[in-house]
Amino acid sequence: MQAVTTIAAVRERVQAWRREGHRVAFVPTMGNLHPGHVSLIETARRYGDRFIASIFVNPMQFGPNEDFAHYPRTPQQDEGMLAKAGCDLMFMPDVTEIYPHGSERATRVEVPGISRILEGEFRPGHFEGVSTVVAKLFHIVEPQIAVFGEKDFQQLTVIRRMVAELCMPVEIIGAPTVRDADGLAMSSRNQYLTSAERALAPVIYATLKQAAGRIEAGDADFASIERAGCEALAAAGLKPDYFAVRQARDLAGPAAGERDLVILTAARMSKARLIDNTRARRP
Ligand code: PAF
Repeated sequence: MQAVTTIAAVRERVQAWRREGHRVAFVPTMGNLHPGHVSLIETARRYGDRFIASIFVNPMQFGPNEDFAHYPRTPQQDEGMLAKAGCDLMFMPDVTEIYPHGSERATRVEVPGISRILEGEFRPGHFEGVSTVVAKLFHIVEPQIAVFGEKDFQQLTVIRRMVAELCMPVEIIGAPTVRDADGLAMSSRNQYLTSAERALAPVIYATLKQAAGRIEAGDADFASIERAGCEALAAAGLKPDYFAVRQARDLAGPAAGERDLVILTAARMSKARLIDNTRARRP
């Protein structure tokens, strides 16, 4: 695997692949890789034949009181994991390579509506940072395929909408969430949990599954399902920001007759704020 830090080096390599007729699959990440990220590369292998991953902790998607400065950075370990997973090119730019005029003054991409609800309500500006950096990375890499984890379901929805509306020639693939044996979704932020909090955290997925069970059994009282979800998380000692039942295709409230739903939640423990979701199909 080759490791590069400049846009010019990425373009040179990817353009050579394209001339040779390869299908380029891209996995954008913020590094501190875990098996969930490796599974994104494994998914990419089903769709492409040349693989590129980026490692860039994007300042624009962090709020002023969030963990940008402390976000775990493990570049050497990441490089080893990507090479082992069969990645061909690792792009690890500096902030100035991506934002030459500073991230505050950069041209921005905003997907209105869905960027402002759920996570967007609790993290103002977050999705603007995500859509901006992903648009920039797509212009740099020009992949035919890009893979994102379903764990960040709202992010995946925002990116699909951006790609459709800006007519970007890239196919977006969602990869299933990878979980620890007790159900906790893998995330770099799990390392912020104390051992007592780690023991409690599986309640998030258990509560989502309970809610999905109610929906799949025909219960359409979504307000009651959302309330019960928040209460269960609070009773376990977490502080839920939201527990919401939405349409999977656009995250709007479920319309009558819409069967494909998603339940999304975010909950805080002392230092960590964890998000998760599960799909539910109405009968
Ligand atoms: O999911 C992430 O790791 C980030 O939000 C992404 C998509 C790499 C953009 O910075």
